[in-house]
Amino acid sequence: MDYRPPISVEEELRMLAESHTAKAPPRIERVEIKDCVFWIKRPERLNLRYRLQKGDPRAAFERERMAFHEMNAARAPVPELCAEGEDFIVLPDCGKDLRYLLHVEESDTARRELLLESARTLGRFHGLGFSHGRPSPKDMCLSDSGVVMLDFERYRHKNNTPKGQARDLVVFAFNVIAHSPRAKGFLKDAVAAYREVAPSGTWELAQDWCSKMRWAEWFAKPAQWRKGGHGREFKAVPDLFDLFLQRA
Ligand SMILES: Nc1ncnc2c1ncn2[C@@H]1O[C@H](COP(=O)(O)OP(=O)(O)O)[C@@H](O)[C@H]1O
Ligand SMILES: [Mg+2]
Repeated sequence: MDYRPPISVEEELRMLAESHTAKAPPRIERVEIKDCVFWIKRPERLNLRYRLQKGDPRAAFERERMAFHEMNAARAPVPELCAEGEDFIVLPDCGKDLRYLLHVEESDTARRELLLESARTLGRFHGLGFSHGRPSPKDMCLSDSGVVMLDFERYRHKNNTPKGQARDLVVFAFNVIAHSPRAKGFLKDAVAAYREVAPSGTWELAQDWCSKMRWAEWFAKPAQWRKGGHGREFKAVPDLFDLFLQRA
């Protein structure tokens, strides 16, 4: 009789990821295999205009793959790659993202703790020498093993420096102010939690960067009256400077 051994989860993931190549596959896909959830991520398909704006999506995909290899080897707070191929990587499900949780969590105490834990995670990640490139609660998830970071398409070795980490801290705070209004009141405490575990000096570098960038506030002013989308981001600028320049 023709006996075929049961295929492993990894083989099944690979088949699933590769079976899409003929069609236009989704960039991010949530799949379930044997009661386990996984996420398949593929290179972004961009038209010429977006390629010019956002850069080569293939290079971004390779940056992310390299990031996972290096960060898994360093046991950084990121999910472990489950499978990979030329055009895909597969990650385990890491739970809900922090932006969502900060939005739906009703308890102030729990919301504060979520933000502090995400800041500590960024601090530990920096402590290992890495820098994310554009960290945001949207790219952090609350997994069974704690908060993990995702989305490394902007990962670059040249940013794995105190300066790159300082910029990460500013961008993280900016994203909280702009997109997680229910959590921004806890940012001061979150920065303190970050500083307890992060390399020393990052906060001071972030402050320097903000004092040099203060002029950006003037550009942001008229736009503060705009509604939604980018308006929200422009409006975040004064709060960001208040936080880093300790004006409030
Ligand atoms: N392994 C995962 N576990 C849970 N959610 C995930 C996972 N991978 C991606 N996601 C969800 O998909 C979203 C987009 O994935 P991400 O890697 O950030 O791609 P993009 O480059 O499009 O931002 C994330 O913000 C998160 O909500
Ligand atoms: Mg993302």
